Formats: sequence, structure tokens, C-alpha cells
Amino acid sequence: MSIRPVRKAVFPVAGLGTRFLPATKAMPKEMLTVVDKPLIQYAVEEALAAGIEQIIFVTGRGKGALEDHFDVSYELEATMRARGKSMAAIDGIRQKPGSPVYVRQQEPLGLGHAVWCAREIVGDEPFAVLLPDELMVGSPNFMAQMVSAYQRVGGNVIGALEVSDSETDKYGIISPGAQDGALVEVTALVEKPARGTAPSNLMIPGRYILQPEVMGVLEGQGAGAGGEIQLTDAMARLIGRQPFHGCTFSGQRFDCGDKAGYVQANIALALARDDIGPAVRAFARRLLD
Ligand code: UTP
Repeated sequence: MSIRPVRKAVFPVAGLGTRFLPATKAMPKEMLTVVDKPLIQYAVEEALAAGIEQIIFVTGRGKGALEDHFDVSYELEATMRARGKSMAAIDGIRQKPGSPVYVRQQEPLGLGHAVWCAREIVGDEPFAVLLPDELMVGSPNFMAQMVSAYQRVGGNVIGALEVSDSETDKYGIISPGAQDGALVEVTALVEKPARGTAPSNLMIPGRYILQPEVMGVLEGQGAGAGGEIQLTDAMARLIGRQPFHGCTFSGQRFDCGDKAGYVQANIALALARDDIGPAVRAFARRLLD
């Protein structure tokens, strides 16, 4: 079997972000900033650095700020230029003409449904999915690590991260088979298993490399856990038909869809910065004392 390259990435950004109200009442969750960059930009940069060529956003109503972020900002750029200001902070955000591609999810029926909304743009090739509210920090980045793993085994490769027993009911969980370095065979998947019933402590974070056949499975799939059309349920049906692996990540994950995770991301990334790190560290020390 020849392993086809992953050229396209889908970014589902049509969710309502109810856990982050009131911040997300009129602003997309994916535009929340960690230090000085919106979450969506971290995810797009991760995909591009992993070799992805086409960016596909699945958006919904009220997400216009996302589109503007990757566009030209004439007034801002003209004013900055006229004032002789450095453009370094906004260089490279604007995408090439015709990119990104935007498709619409008219109703937020769940992650599986959001991915399915991109089916016509994805077509008949493998694709990545990145959930921008999960910020992954590592070098090489998580998607790059997953692409390397995918190039060895092909099929479907999803993230696999360890969580504590008390957290398994919040996530999609992997039933693990044979392990080979960073890769673990996936023998089954279950979305948000009831406490005490999880097959392992390996959760599925918001990074996936999937074969296009998942779109056919999602077609007409009913609602699963939480009344949502679940990507996990569709992926589970590919197991046994196609190679299916989990990939561990040497790096850090921040759940920025959650208030505590978001604040932790800001602290960690601010402390790691050369420009503001020393001031933030000194302040944090005073505060904690
Ligand atoms: P979440 O599970 O975090 O859902 O979605 P949410 O609606 O954004 O947030 P809460 O739970 O109400 O606070 C994970 C990712 O999937 C997208 C979201 O935009 C987010 O990037 N998503 C989710 C969709 O695009 N459509 C959906 O129907 C559901």
C-alpha cells in the first residue's frame, strides 16, 4: 500500500464555546489570545510547519473575525507603514490568494458533523484535523510528529495522551493494542466512557490524520454521546478496515477551551518569552509570596 501525503487540514471552528462565556458571546473562541496570538494562528502555524498545504476552516455564524485575521488589513498596514512601524508582528499571517478555504456548518451538531461539512474540499485524500482550542507546544510540533509517524504506518493516526483516572469520562478514550515507540495500535475507541469503564488512560486530543473513508461513515451517522455527532464514533468504525494508530506527544497540551487551561497556557508561554518572561516571572513570585 502506498502512503499518500497529507496535504489538507480541516480546522473545525463552528462551536459555540459555551464553557468560555461571556468572552465568547460575540467573539469566536478560536480568536482568544495566548499572550499576543490567537489560538487559531497557533494551530495554522502548526499545520503549515508540518507540511500541510491547504487550510480548510469549518465556520459558522459570528466567526467573521477569523476570516479577517488571515486577510489583508488595509487601514492597519497603511497606517503602520506611514508611521514607519515594524510589520514583523503581522508578517506571514495573510495566506496566499484563494486560501484558506471556508465551508459552513449551519448548526453546531458536533465535531463529526463539522468534519463531514468539509467533505467536498477534502475529496479523496488523507487529511489532518486540528482543534485550535487545544494548544500544543513542542518541537517538532505535534502535527509534525504525527505526520512522521503516519509516513511509517499510513492509515489513520490520532493523538494519544495520558490522563488521570478521574478525567477519562471527559474525553474520547483509546483501547490500546501493541506499542511500538511513540505509536500504539488502536483496537477500539469510546467517547466519554462512564467513570470506571474506560479501557485505558489514553485520551484522544484534538489532532487527527484520517483517511477520506471516514467521510462516508459520517454520512447519515446519528448523534452519540452528549447528543452530538461524534468523530470518535465514525473513527471507531474504521478500525479493522484500515491501519489505526495512536501517537504520543513529547510536548505540552493546554486545553484552552477551558478557563483554567487557558490561564495556564498564558502563564507558561509568557514565562517562556524572552521579552516579557522576566517581568512576568518577577510578578508571579511576588504574587505567590
Ligand atoms: P468543543 O467540544 O470544545 O465545543 O469543540 P464548543 O462548542 O466549541 O465549546 P463548548 O464545549 O460549548 O465550550 C471542539 C472543537 O470543535 C469545534 C469547536 O469550534 C472547537 O474548535 N466544533 C464543535 C465545531 O466546529 N462544530 C461543532 O458542532 C462542535
